[in-house]
Amino acid sequence: MTTATGEGLVVQGLSAGYGPVDVLHEVDLQVRPEEIVALLGANGAGKSTLVKTIGGLLPARAGSVHSGGRDVTRMRPERRARAGIVTAPEGRRLFLHMTVAENIELGLRLSGRGGGKALLDEVLDLLPVVRERMSTQAGLLSGGQQQMVALARAAAASPQVLLLDEPTLGLSPRLTVEVLDLVAELARRRSLAVLLVEQRAQQALAVATRGYVIDRGRIVLAGSSAELLGSGEMSEIYFGAAGVAPAADPTPTNGSKETP
Ligand SMILES: Nc1ncnc2c1ncn2[C@@H]1O[C@H](COP(=O)(O)OP(=O)(O)OP(=O)(O)O)[C@@H](O)[C@H]1O
Ligand SMILES: [Mg+2]
Repeated sequence: MTTATGEGLVVQGLSAGYGPVDVLHEVDLQVRPEEIVALLGANGAGKSTLVKTIGGLLPARAGSVHSGGRDVTRMRPERRARAGIVTAPEGRRLFLHMTVAENIELGLRLSGRGGGKALLDEVLDLLPVVRERMSTQAGLLSGGQQQMVALARAAAASPQVLLLDEPTLGLSPRLTVEVLDLVAELARRRSLAVLLVEQRAQQALAVATRGYVIDRGRIVLAGSSAELLGSGEMSEIYFGAAGVAPAADPTPTNGSKETP
């Protein structure tokens, strides 16, 4: 374990919410470079709220966020992106009337850190589907293809910390595996610290080394992937006493969400 302000992403005592309501309560978590860490939890548990607070879209009410040893807690989202924290938000959020290339260009511009084009080439090598579609309007792609574009856009922003909010939402089991494998490959090649939000616990833990389970805004369980997969407690948190296996696919709710 590195120290609190070591490399990667370090979140300490983070609280946040909307209006008068606190949604996150003193969340602690850490993701080291080259590590994929799963963030698991049921609908409404606070996963996206945590991602938004780490990315700076929602202000922290208490606690801190460090990236690569830098305190970014009070930085606006664009500055945070330049400091290395990049989000691929829930529901892809592509500009559907723009081409794939234009969408990815936004990612390149976001980083403002140089090296983007070389990185983009590397990303596109991993994503031939995206390379072939660079001049296509994003709205004409399938859900899975759009998800690949969203990943390419995030990767093009040259992150050190990549926050992925349900990148497989609405995808078929086959595409889910493809996207997650790609995430693993990106993390390895670019030494990324990846926080992977997923409702599909089993698939997420197959590519993650560790995971956290969030419930009503609190981290209630943390451990290695093997520990979490073998944990009866996790099924309980997800599905109550019925203890249904946490591998069940959630019903897609916003997989086809439109422009930002
Ligand atoms: N913009 C908002 N304004 C007010 N409350 C919100 C807002 N967004 C989320 N919430 C509330 O915060 C809580 C956590 O929501 P959040 O979106 O973080 O959950 P989640 O774990 O990402 O769920 P899902 O798996 O459905 O995406 C919920 O109770 C939700 O109703
Ligand atoms: Mg969410």
